Amino acid sequence: MNTELAPSAVIVLAAGAGTRMKSATPKVMHGIGGRSMVEHAVAAARDLNPERLAVVVRHQRDKVAEHVLAFDPEVTIVDQDEIPGTGRAVEVGLNALDAQAPVSGTVLVTYGDVPLLRPETLRELIAFHEEDKNSVTVLTTHIDEPGAYGRIVRNQAGEVTAIVEAKDASPEELEITEINSGIYAFDAAVLREALLEVTTNNAQGEKYITDVLSIARSKGYRTSALAIDDRWEVEGANDRVQLAQLGRMLNNRILETHMRNGVTIVDPENTWIDVTVTIENDVTLLPGVQLHGSTTIATGATIGPDSTLTDMTVEADATVIRTHGFGAVIGEGATVGPFAYLRPGTALGKDAKLGTFCEAKNSQIGDGAKIPHLSYVGDATIGEGANIGAGSIFANYNGLVKSRSVIGAHARMGSAGIYVAPVTVGDGAYSGAGALIRKDVPAGALAYSETSQRTIDGWVLKNRAGSGRPGVAPTPAKAAKAAGAQEPAES
Ligand code: UD1
Ligand code: CA
Repeated sequence: MNTELAPSAVIVLAAGAGTRMKSATPKVMHGIGGRSMVEHAVAAARDLNPERLAVVVRHQRDKVAEHVLAFDPEVTIVDQDEIPGTGRAVEVGLNALDAQAPVSGTVLVTYGDVPLLRPETLRELIAFHEEDKNSVTVLTTHIDEPGAYGRIVRNQAGEVTAIVEAKDASPEELEITEINSGIYAFDAAVLREALLEVTTNNAQGEKYITDVLSIARSKGYRTSALAIDDRWEVEGANDRVQLAQLGRMLNNRILETHMRNGVTIVDPENTWIDVTVTIENDVTLLPGVQLHGSTTIATGATIGPDSTLTDMTVEADATVIRTHGFGAVIGEGATVGPFAYLRPGTALGKDAKLGTFCEAKNSQIGDGAKIPHLSYVGDATIGEGANIGAGSIFANYNGLVKSRSVIGAHARMGSAGIYVAPVTVGDGAYSGAGALIRKDVPAGALAYSETSQRTIDGWVLKNRAGSGRPGVAPTPAKAAKAAGAQEPAES
């Protein structure tokens, strides 16, 4: 980071209503890429290391303020009054900061609903603004159908002389394809001086920040524009169609960064990764993977197909197939899935396995331990090298409290075991199939549950000779007869 270019202040505008979202949630709190739009905007501003950072709110101010302060408690929340417009929003922002201590030097203005703006671009804007000794520099881009955007008016010499709102523009001005992004660098003193002259004399009856440029110029200050190529960076989301488009663009950007860092992404169209996720090189992501929150994936791991991991830690060389997981740790070389469900507090050790149709919650599964099939492991500690047979259930809840079960190292637990917590099985113990383990099992012991089997010869031929449904053949009886089964003798 170049601290020389740190601005004195950034003012993020987030007071607008955002009616086109048709949502109970404030527009700037709608999210893409794992963060709300306003969090993206504040994170980009924060990356510049500004001395002060203000967010201007009005619409649903309590919700927005609480949300912003939750991820960045250092932000100054400023309330816009009933005077409408971007110019008023900047004015209240600047006044509030001035009241703390007068602002001097470069002030940036950005929007809370423009989530793709990169700190690099803001740094370019500051560098251009300061090297050019401008008082106002507006960030612009070219758009073939500029629609409702403000137009950048330049004179014969190519200097920027005004920004004209579409609603106030002449037919000739509407032809201009260079548009106002709404992102600016200002000299604080010039901004303060020019804002005093901004009126609401326009088609919308609002105080326009855009007027500051022509006012500053009329006072003899230098005004300029920095045009960027990537229009997506300055695009805002006004409705959910645009939100999805921006989400896709942001995701593309995130995926590209990971791919350039050495991550294989087989199907970028069907892979979604939050900005907050960390992935080491030589990780392979198969189609249909979503990585969210604080998830980290270490080198050599393979994730997917079709897995969603939130706040997960996946260690090196692990394999995770068709899995839904959150808040769990998958150890080095461990294998998970297909069709596994990991819940918070679960940690699989090195080379451990949680296999097909298994759920684990708040459980420590030791190095090399295996739960290969169809099991629920809740509130359990499973020792290293233990094997839990197919269809096992850790009954952790008696309707009042949850308790833990412990299975010792290298234990061999038979299929369809039920562990009624709290219960402990010692190291190296065995259990028979279908064991109902209610009492502790000492190390090296065998535990099994006796459930006697009765067999009644010929029962099918006697009791199910016909299917009972007209026209449906009595298949089991037929098969039994063909195999030589006899009807029982009358008793
Ligand atoms: C504004 C610019 C326009 C530019 C466009 C880019 C003005 C007068 N016009 O258009 O030249 O092309 O942005 O998107 O500035 N906001 C407030 N308080 C308000 C009004 C708006 O904080 O009273 C915030 C909104 O929350 C939003 C941003 O300012 O983040 C832009 O508001 P919006 O109404 O979308 O922009 P326009 O005024 O239409
Ligand atoms: Ca407006």
